[in-house]
Amino acid sequence: MDWLAVEKRHDSGVYAKSDFVITRGEGAYVYDTEGNRYLDLINGIGVGFLGHGHPKVVAAIKAQAERLMVLPQVFASDRRAEFYRVLTDVLPEPLSRVFPTNSGTEAVEAALKFARAATGRKKFVAAMRSFHGRSFGSLSVTWEKKYREPFKPLVEPVTFIPYNDVRALEEAVDEETAAVILEPVQGEGGVRPATPAFLQAARERTERTGALLILDEIQTGFGRTGRLFAFEHYGVVPDILTLAKPLGGGFPLGAMVTTDAVADRMPKGAHGSTFGGNPLAMAAGTAAIQAIVEERLWERAERLGRVFMEALRKIESKKIREVRGLGLMVGVELKEKAAPYSKRLAEQHRILSIQAGPTVMRFLPPVVVTEEELLRAAEAVGEVLNE
Ligand SMILES: Cc1ncc(COP(=O)(O)O)c(C=O)c1O
Repeated sequence: MDWLAVEKRHDSGVYAKSDFVITRGEGAYVYDTEGNRYLDLINGIGVGFLGHGHPKVVAAIKAQAERLMVLPQVFASDRRAEFYRVLTDVLPEPLSRVFPTNSGTEAVEAALKFARAATGRKKFVAAMRSFHGRSFGSLSVTWEKKYREPFKPLVEPVTFIPYNDVRALEEAVDEETAAVILEPVQGEGGVRPATPAFLQAARERTERTGALLILDEIQTGFGRTGRLFAFEHYGVVPDILTLAKPLGGGFPLGAMVTTDAVADRMPKGAHGSTFGGNPLAMAAGTAAIQAIVEERLWERAERLGRVFMEALRKIESKKIREVRGLGLMVGVELKEKAAPYSKRLAEQHRILSIQAGPTVMRFLPPVVVTEEELLRAAEAVGEVLNE
């Protein structure tokens, strides 16, 4: 069967497609229908921090699938309670209330709704180059014009400020602001870490004006940046935290986590989700968090990220503008379009990467990757750039 032709014929068409068909994954690798092996340094766009098919996550999913897969949140669940406990145990104390979702976008959507309900205010402040999702709410705080323009009118009012511009932030956030939403490291927007001054100013200014601070750690959370949560680099605790990607160890799972003060102001029945908090996802999430925490995998991410970035910085190429990142969230900004180089990396070296904006090659390696594999990848990046 020509699976590629079938997929292309029936696909919605919103994604550009690879011209190989992936059938299987294991650890840091995926395999195509021809039996080719690819070093997967994108791993579900950051989902597979633990790599593909982590044994503890697989075992938890298998066991729970046989017991109970679905249970609406009106019924209490042992698996859900366990997930809440394991998740809130690794967060600062005020972040004690969880709304489980099936994706990152839904976590952001919940965050915006909880923020409006809790403050009684309407305005959001977001950053230029932000990415928070593609539903109407989350898209409204996402910067990229090509994602937004066809779908206007979006949720308003939203003020976009330049990322890392403290003065613009202080001017934009006022007594009418419901929340400021920020990524501690912008992912899709080009792998751009926040400055400590910017996130700290966001915390201070929101506190002073009675607005809430939402940190979107969907891409940065759970070890990726070299700390369990990226906000730990900055000494800033948000009022609302959004999580997804690695949270389910590969299983679709997101969460919005907030404080008693915020959650208590959301009217009962004002938000919900049929699949959110299902026992299967909860079991996967519990296993994934435990696997990350038990082995302190953020420390490995920090070390590997440093090795990878050092190797990338040694590449001699006039095409590179900057190598930047935090932990295993790494971007190579080029002076030209990045897509052709990612394509060559896949075709010639069987290494998978993705773009972050037009000119940045983005790498989100799984923490199970080895130092040797990252050094080989850096060498391959050098080769495709210098051909
Ligand atoms: C920071 C951030 N927020 C939100 C999202 C949306 O998450 P999802 O694709 O799971 O809906 C993403 C996805 O890339 C993201 O990186």
